[in-house]
Amino acid sequence: MAEPDPQLFDKIVNLSKRRGIVFPSAEIYGGFRSAYDYGPVGTLMLRNVKDAWWRSMVQLRSDVVGLDASILSPPAVWEASGHLANFTDPLVDCRHCGARHRQDKLEDPVQCPTCGTRGELTEPRQFNLMFETQAGPVKDAGAVAYLRPETAQGMFINFANVVNTSRKKPPFGIAQIGKSFRNEITPGNFVFRTREFEQMELEFFVPPGDAEQWYEYWCQERYQWYVDHGIPADKLRLRPHGPDELSHYSSGTSDVEFLFPWGWDELEGVANRGDYDLTQHIEYSGQRLEYFDQAANERYVPHVIEPAAGATRTMMAFLMAGYDEETVNDETRTVLRLHHRIAPYKVAVLPLSKKPELIEPAKDLAATLQPHWMVDYDETQAIGRRYRRQDEIGTPFCITYDFDSLEDKAVTIRDRDSMDQVRLPIPDVVDWLSERLK
Ligand code: GAP
Repeated sequence: MAEPDPQLFDKIVNLSKRRGIVFPSAEIYGGFRSAYDYGPVGTLMLRNVKDAWWRSMVQLRSDVVGLDASILSPPAVWEASGHLANFTDPLVDCRHCGARHRQDKLEDPVQCPTCGTRGELTEPRQFNLMFETQAGPVKDAGAVAYLRPETAQGMFINFANVVNTSRKKPPFGIAQIGKSFRNEITPGNFVFRTREFEQMELEFFVPPGDAEQWYEYWCQERYQWYVDHGIPADKLRLRPHGPDELSHYSSGTSDVEFLFPWGWDELEGVANRGDYDLTQHIEYSGQRLEYFDQAANERYVPHVIEPAAGATRTMMAFLMAGYDEETVNDETRTVLRLHHRIAPYKVAVLPLSKKPELIEPAKDLAATLQPHWMVDYDETQAIGRRYRRQDEIGTPFCITYDFDSLEDKAVTIRDRDSMDQVRLPIPDVVDWLSERLK
């Protein structure tokens, strides 16, 4: 069984800063707690995480369609969903130092984790995590709007729109990727828990009698997705929630958990939401959000199975699962062994020297590859250091254009993981890479 590696956390935070993966937000103004900016390399990686999810959940299926709903929404949505009443965490204050904590996350229920004082924590108050704002220039009760705390409600309130326009019938799903916002009491652990984050959610609508079977199906599918994208099975587990952990809408939830440096923690929740959401929106909106099964001549409210993942949190798990250090020629080589679909750049083109006779054809080669893949072109520093840099950002293949290339019209391709090198005629490079980057 794999063990958590507490040192990995700092290594990932440092690598992220050093290589343009993730920066603390508003750093030149002293930073803005719990917000992060994705740098040139991280932007590519985050996009790849989302693309890989979309490919599996939408592109490769005939029973799922996409949606891109608005982030701002009126209170009615959150009244119906139960979030205004229930989307709360228990907040306690320390009378001694003033720090605030989530009561359910305290290791010792009477001790302040900030100053260590015992017996000075207040009674818990329920703190609503939704960000409230106003829509329009007049600040009155009618202008209240909320930043969505989950993308899910967009799928429920558009259920009838999607059914009527897509010709889908249960079992079918609506998928969405987008930002969500929660005023977390204790954000932390880098991008694991932030106040602004990205979710990848599927609401899968099924006939009520089939809900249990689809719940099992999605638990297995989602677990397997992480394995297929390179997370070792011994760092992943599927954990069913106990009855006291269930959200207000759920009749059954399992978390896909990853072995983070601080131990097992949630990557994704797969929930059986029953007919809770559609029934609530039927009641609050007065609209018919049922499905009419013409063949059986019956009307029913579908049940919903929801696999809900965090894109930013998943990216962090990929970074941690892929991070490796090995000794090569008495030096430490750091390498991100990312699945090629997740890797920010698929290939780097590196002219052996800065001589113009090498730079020009190397740039031409990069231009030939760019329509197919994200290509990093780098002519700075010694070749060994450039390999190390590409290893650190997980680039699967490096192509070196050297002086022999001028004569034999061939290049050397180096594999990130094995460091094996092959010499290949330039006209064969696209096919060779296509075979390996499928
Ligand atoms: N619609 C159901 C829902 O939102 P959730 O378990 O609260 O369920 C789903 O959130 C996923 O979103 C989590 O498993 C996690 O990956 C991600 N997530 C939730 N809160 C987050 C936060 N504050 N920061 C980063 N990711 C978060």
